[in-house]
Formats: sequence, structure tokens, C-alpha cells
Amino acid sequence: MKIETFQMERMQSTWENLVDYDMSESGVRPLTLRELAAMGFDLESFLDVPLGYSQSNGTIELRERIAEMYPGATTEHVEVTNGTSEANYLIALSQVRAGDVVAMQVPNYMQMWGVARSLGADVKTFRLCSESAWEPDWDEFERAVTPKTRLLYLSNPNNPTGSVLSEAAMRRIADRCQETGTWLLSDEVYLGAEITAPRTTSFWGMGDRVIVTSGLSKAYGIPGVRIGWIAGGKELVADCWSQHDYITIGPNKMSDRIAQVAVEPKNRERCYSRTGEILRHNLPIAQEWSRSFRDRLTWTAPTAGAIALVKYESDTPSLAIAERVRLNQNTLIVPGTHVGIEGHLRIWLGGREDYLREGLRRIATELKGLLD
Ligand SMILES: Cc1ncc(COP(=O)(O)O)c(C=O)c1O
Repeated sequence: MKIETFQMERMQSTWENLVDYDMSESGVRPLTLRELAAMGFDLESFLDVPLGYSQSNGTIELRERIAEMYPGATTEHVEVTNGTSEANYLIALSQVRAGDVVAMQVPNYMQMWGVARSLGADVKTFRLCSESAWEPDWDEFERAVTPKTRLLYLSNPNNPTGSVLSEAAMRRIADRCQETGTWLLSDEVYLGAEITAPRTTSFWGMGDRVIVTSGLSKAYGIPGVRIGWIAGGKELVADCWSQHDYITIGPNKMSDRIAQVAVEPKNRERCYSRTGEILRHNLPIAQEWSRSFRDRLTWTAPTAGAIALVKYESDTPSLAIAERVRLNQNTLIVPGTHVGIEGHLRIWLGGREDYLREGLRRIATELKGLLD
């Protein structure tokens, strides 16, 4: 199968461990195993657990805990995966065929763009509009989601805008998917990473064809354990499990055990509040930084997620700017073109204060020369 380069991930994989300041991240600074041990992960007793294969669709204990987050779901409605990215991939592999139409919101995490096209689908996009607080362009939405559309992919809260769909927008999207018989895949990996917004409502339960993916990487702050999941109808989940057999078989045994601890309701809330505190501390620092550019750099402040999408006033392509910031400042940022929106840059908000300040200072040094 031929697949085009996933530009953002490839750039991050190439540079994130080599630069001085990685400001291309999108989660909060991660938890340690020690912090997870304080939440109840029993490392000592895990030392005696034989490292055999784990249950390939996730242990019953973990699936039970995940199912509790989705009213009406049972363990058969849940598949545990290696990250949210594998969850999205399994859904595409099991549902999308050559010639299908796949709709997706842009800007976005562009995984589905590449995966759906590699499967021979025609990907139709609809924009989130900065002029209207990132509300979808409804004309484009209606053109993208028709009875021919097999699957709609969106991220809510959205990467990279940090915006959350209103209840009315969610209802409109869910109703349209119901009418057109389209799978509505809502990637909710940022749910729980709200900064100023109330807790995001899940699409779960808003229609027969709703599928939710999520995982520990963003709102929980534990990307390194690589645990994600699918919540969906039993048949769809069974189809995804069949695909899983061919790819990675199943998740890592220690990660499954860690995830059982992380998703316990009291620990989940602890992780979410840690994330919220980090972001509420950092947001004003980034706001002050963006004001120093006056009208040369503008943004709609994110309401959720550890990312800020800034718009700059220059004709220079975002990739050229990101390259200059990397080469001259040894600092990595995401060019808008890698998340489906030119004229913008995505900057990480989830680090320690001194890291954030120095990362922003370096970005500003480069941008000021360019935007003045
Ligand atoms: C919306 C979205 N979904 C999925 C992923 C990948 O998540 P994971 O690390 O859980 O595979 C990302 C990573 O940035 C993301 O932004």
C-alpha cells in the first residue's frame, strides 16, 4: 500500500529529540512512572508479572473502566489500541474502501487525510472558520457530508485550533451523519484538557453511527505508554479487532496495567486537573507574548488543548518560517501547512514555565525579523 508522508509526524520524528526547544508538542509535559505509582500503579508487584502477551483487544479490567465513560457501553463496545492513532487507523482500515468519500474538518490532525487517501478514498474537507470562533463552514460541511460519505473525521477539542464545538454545532453534525448514513468518528483525545471551556461533551450517544476514539496521550499527559481506544457499536469494534490481529496484535502488557490506574475516575480527574492547571498557568504567558507583536501576529486563544494556533501577517509560507526557526533558533514549531491551514504556526503551551518562555523568546527572535 502506497501512503504519502505524514508531514507533521515525520518532521517531529526527525527533529524533536535533536533541537534545544521542542515547541511542536501538543500534550502537556508528561507524568512519570513515580507519579503514576503515587496514584496506585503497583510497580513492585508488576515486577513479578510474566511478560506474556496481553489480551489483544485490552484486558477486561481496562475495557470495563473505559466502558464506564460511555453510557450504555459494555466491554464489547471497546477496543484498546496502541495510541489514539492506531484507533483511528483501525477504523479507516475496517470501514473505508476505494472510491468512498471521507469528510474531514480542517485544520486538523492530518492522519485521516493520508490514511483515507492511501485506501483510495476521495477526501473532502470543510473548514473551521477563524472569523467565527472556529465554527464550521456549514456550506462546505453540507457539500462534504452527503449520502455518498462513508466516514466523517473530526477532532473535538480540535487540534490545532484548541476550539470546542458548540452543542448546536455538535447536534447539527450528528443529525447530518444520521441522515446520510455516515460514520461520525469523533477523536476526543483532548477531552479533559480544557483551559477555560467547561468539560467537553462527548459525541457518544448522539447517533447510531457515532464512533469515539481517545487515549492517554493528551488530556492525561501519558503519551509514552501508547494506550488509546475505540468506543463504538459491537460490530464495528469486532471489525477493528480483526484488523488489529494483523497489525500489532494488541497493546503492551505494562501499558494496559498503567492505563487501568490512569482511567480510574479519581485518577482521571487528577490527570485532567493537572493538565488544566499547567495550561491555565501558561496561557497568559503566551498571550502576553503574542501581544508583543501587535497586529502582526494574532490568534483566537485556545479554550482546550496544549496548543496555540497563531496567524502571522506575511506571505512567507509557514514551512519556510518553521525551517528558519529550527535552523537559526534550534527550536521546533509546526507550520500551519502541516495541519491544513497556511499562514499560521502551531506552538506548544504545555511545558514548564522556563521552557515555554525560552521557546517563545527564540520564536519571537526569528519572527520579529520576518514580520517587521
Ligand atoms: C487529534 C489527535 N488524534 C490522535 C493523535 C495521536 O495520538 P496518540 O499519541 O494517542 O496516538 C494526535 C496527536 O497529536 C492528535 O492530535
